[in-house]
Amino acid sequence: MTKKLGGRSVSDIGLGTWGMGGWQSADKSEDSVCVDAIRYALSRGINVIDTAEMYGGGHTEEIVAKAIEGIPREDIYIISKVWNTNLHHDSLLKSARSSLRRLKTPYLDLYLIHWPNPSVPLRETIGAMEELLKEGLVRSIGVSNFDVEQLSDAMTVSKYTEIAANQVLYNYGARGPEKDIIPFCEKSGVEVISYTPILKGKVSGFSRLNEVAEKYSATAVQMALRYTMERSLPIPKSSSKSHIDALIEGSRIKLRKDDYEFLRS
Ligand SMILES: NC(=O)c1ccc[n+]([C@@H]2O[C@H](COP(=O)([O-])OP(=O)(O)OC[C@H]3O[C@@H](n4cnc5c(N)ncnc54)[C@H](OP(=O)(O)O)[C@@H]3O)[C@@H](O)[C@H]2O)c1
Repeated sequence: MTKKLGGRSVSDIGLGTWGMGGWQSADKSEDSVCVDAIRYALSRGINVIDTAEMYGGGHTEEIVAKAIEGIPREDIYIISKVWNTNLHHDSLLKSARSSLRRLKTPYLDLYLIHWPNPSVPLRETIGAMEELLKEGLVRSIGVSNFDVEQLSDAMTVSKYTEIAANQVLYNYGARGPEKDIIPFCEKSGVEVISYTPILKGKVSGFSRLNEVAEKYSATAVQMALRYTMERSLPIPKSSSKSHIDALIEGSRIKLRKDDYEFLRS
């Protein structure tokens, strides 16, 4: 199955990379495992890779670069994010170029503001992102962790393009976005990308999830992933091939409407 993201048709789940190659700073000890995992996910049809300049102090983007080596660029959809201390015009342009250099790619498919920063005018940040668009260095722009008010401000100040996506914390245990930001995005044509969609694998405490999962001979993790797909494009992270297999299998569950409603209730 596919979804539309920034005008492109992409896989209906993506792969997260937070923790691959370190957290706030680089840790190179598991590089080959992470590269293999990303390659494996791509070979299995996941073509959205989510990363950020902040991950592993930049090293995660280098891991992604290794993983995509030799794969036609058009076959992959790369999301990266600018950290919220780099939202002034010049810093943002510098961040974007550094991400492109680490990723060894001529463009990003989607460039996101990682977190809002009220001390930097949104107009300045979005203006810089639109310069990147015009230069062909990014193909679409978006935001992350923006509430309704912040998103609508971003939509107002973007002159040349649409805000393609808002990446938010959304999972079976964090369903607040269903009340406000998801309906707003649906109405405005902004794709919702859900992060931490499988609650880091810690889903055992949800009885409804377990009950419905059992009915489909699935695991609660798979059902949690499938649940978020109903109203978002989830980007679970995994460095394990067997987990990636399980995630893909979960994404393919044909969830009946009544079971979805039961999970929602
Ligand atoms: N925009 C933002 O502010 C923001 C914030 C947080 C995250 N993100 C993005 O969203 C991505 C996903 O979020 P996340 O990494 O926080 O959490 P997550 O995807 O909910 O969970 C990742 C954890 O689940 C485990 N896992 C994966 N598949 C599994 C399976 N089938 N069964 C059991 N456990 C499984 C992984 O371990 P293994 O690796 O061992 O499989 C990993 O420890 C991030 O990697 C990042 O790209 C964005």
